[in-house]
Amino acid sequence: MKKKKSLSLFLVASFIMAALTGCGGTASNTSSAAPAAPSAAASGEKGFAADATIGVALPWLGTQNWAEADKMFKEQLEAAGFKAIVQHADNKVPQQQQQIESMIQNGAKVIVVGPVDGSQLGAVLEEASAAGISVIGYDRLLENTTGVDGVVQFGSIKTGELQGQALLDGLAAQKGKGPYNIELFGGGPADPNAPNFFKGAMKVLQPKIDDGTLVVVSGQKDFTQCATMDWDNSKAQARMDSLLSGFYSGKEIHGVLSPNDGIARAIITASEQAGQKIPVVSGLDAENESVQWIWSGKQYSTVAKPTDVLVGKTVEIIKGLQAGKGMLAPDTTVNNGKKDVGVYELAPVVVTKENAKEAFANDAGRMALLK
Ligand code: BGC
Repeated sequence: MKKKKSLSLFLVASFIMAALTGCGGTASNTSSAAPAAPSAAASGEKGFAADATIGVALPWLGTQNWAEADKMFKEQLEAAGFKAIVQHADNKVPQQQQQIESMIQNGAKVIVVGPVDGSQLGAVLEEASAAGISVIGYDRLLENTTGVDGVVQFGSIKTGELQGQALLDGLAAQKGKGPYNIELFGGGPADPNAPNFFKGAMKVLQPKIDDGTLVVVSGQKDFTQCATMDWDNSKAQARMDSLLSGFYSGKEIHGVLSPNDGIARAIITASEQAGQKIPVVSGLDAENESVQWIWSGKQYSTVAKPTDVLVGKTVEIIKGLQAGKGMLAPDTTVNNGKKDVGVYELAPVVVTKENAKEAFANDAGRMALLK
């Protein structure tokens, strides 16, 4: 089994080498003569069978959005007539590399990837591309690889801006005039979204730190100091515990920037356990438990990025590839370190108790939590 795999890897590697250097073995950067490997765009332009296999490689199921994606990809791909291989990698890079490798071996025509680590899939994705498979990044950017044809996501800088603005609005609404004592949290550093969420938030918060409205009492303001390894809620809770015991004895904490809902609940729990009044805390994902906490006033805000819409957009792109129409025109492009990647960008929506009923009007499951 192992042997077979390394042989096939070797063959694919030789194929890539041949394609890169031209068949005669003369190095060539020009496109003209060499019968190049079928590029993903070429395969998308030719189309493929209506019941083809589509692979979906998700990073983990540790937050509600990924668990929803797991279920919705299966449902929506099968409803569209495709065979779906949907897997998650338990946040482990080698496991995800193997899963993508086996999707290639299983003849997938498109592979959708939410990477565990945005920059660790270069080789396997380039292998997929060289085999004529279209590769679509889902929710997270695929970095440092030419093996990507587009990325479908909610704007990540915009998401951060909404989180920063919600923190400011919540402080003004609930914590008097200020200055306000705050702390900052970021997501998992391997996830390309995490630094972007933080960057977007700091666009809004930094001027208020500079003018003294906000005071980061710990002084920890760099993404690297604030990041939460692997988006692990318990690590965020441990950091919050130590921030509170180290910097807030006899001092009130008014607000905390949180990159998602799981970390928001960890921050709120740590604050309660330290005997603090609940600070204003931002979030992301509109997870069920946080929707309930927002409704009861325990968490101030979240940002909704509906999974069904993101999966729906991805399946629409796959249907276009199947029909031989190539990739849809993207909304914008972003450089991933190796190429400009087309990005299909959807708009995230901030949700507080005030607009929850409007925001979830089309979401019966979440509406049912608002009572
Ligand atoms: C997603 C978030 C999610 C986080 C942790 C991010 O890339 O955009 O929705 O909360 O990963 O799973």
